[in-house]
This record gives sequence, C-alpha cells and structure tokens, in this order.
Amino acid sequence: MHTLSRSASSLNEPNFAEVPFKTLSVCHADIAMMLDEMNELADLLGRERLSGVMMEKARAAHLFFSGHAIEHHLDEERHVFPALLAAGKPEWIGMVRKLQLDHALLEARWMKLGPLLHLLARGYYSQPERLQDELRIFVEIYRQHMALEDSFAYPCARQQLNVEAVCTMNREMAHRRVKDEAADDQDDGWV
Ligand SMILES: [Fe+2]
Ligand SMILES: [Fe+2]
Repeated sequence: MHTLSRSASSLNEPNFAEVPFKTLSVCHADIAMMLDEMNELADLLGRERLSGVMMEKARAAHLFFSGHAIEHHLDEERHVFPALLAAGKPEWIGMVRKLQLDHALLEARWMKLGPLLHLLARGYYSQPERLQDELRIFVEIYRQHMALEDSFAYPCARQQLNVEAVCTMNREMAHRRVKDEAADDQDDGWV
C-alpha cells in the first residue's frame, strides 16, 4: 500500500497532476536563461578581451550545467520517458529515443565545453574561438531538445501518469532537490 503525503481530497484537485510538470517547466525556464547567458558569452568572446563579466558568465554556466541540468535529465529519464514508452506507441517510442540520444549528446558536448568554461572562469583565455564554437553548438542542441520536450514529451507524459505515479514523481523529484540544496551549501571549490 502506498503512503501518500497528500490527502485524498487534494489528490482529486485537477491541478495536482500538473505540479511535477510545472517544476520541470521551471527548470526549462532556468536552463533557457542560462543558455541566453552562454550565447552572450559567445558574442563577447568574438569581440572583447578577457573581462570579469566573461569570467563570471563562464563560472555561472559551469556550476549550473554541472549540477542542476544533470538532475533535470534524471527527472525526465526516471519519470517522463518511461511513461511515454509504457504507452507503446511507435511515434512516442521514436521520440523518446531521440530525446535520450540528445541527453547523451549533450553530455558528450559538455565533456568538451565544461573544461573550457572552467579555464575561462579561472582567467585562462587561451582558446576563445574553440570555446565560442562549443558554446554555440551546445546552446543550439539544448534549445531544440527543450522545444521537443515542451511541445511533445511533457504534454503526452502528463496524460499517461495516474495519481500514484504523479505522487511518486513528486516525492522523488522533491527528495533530489533537498539533496541538491544541501550540496549547494557545501564549498564548491571555486574561489
Ligand atoms: Fe531532456
Ligand atoms: Fe528537459
């Protein structure tokens, strides 16, 4: 028997099932803002010498995509994608495979981009053109990926999840965020 943290009446509220998807959408809004910042950094790299603004943008992007974005992918892979696959529709399965490949591709691009951002945040300005290219590629892949999730994956998964599944999704996402906040309080190694 499942132990639910919400009362039976609140579970019947039509908006309850939207809660985890609102959290995911807020994550997308945060990611979109960070991608705008990274695009601005790419613009600056093409026309300016090293500045404190550039170093701060690099540091913020590195911290954000080393932590929050990874957790966001986990949320989707544990809750959103399985709901779509369980429906057994070929079109949905194909779309999930594409989104999973995007996650892997973004991880691979991050392996190149992350160290370059780290170096710039530390004041090393040795490969601006390469960093600029990596930023543009990463931003473009991520924007297209989120557009597909917003227009397809989230609305379809929302239809598929029953109350128990939404409760589990809520609980696990909240638990992971509590752990994130505890980690944020620790020294992240930056000066
Ligand atoms: Fe995703
Ligand atoms: Fe996403």
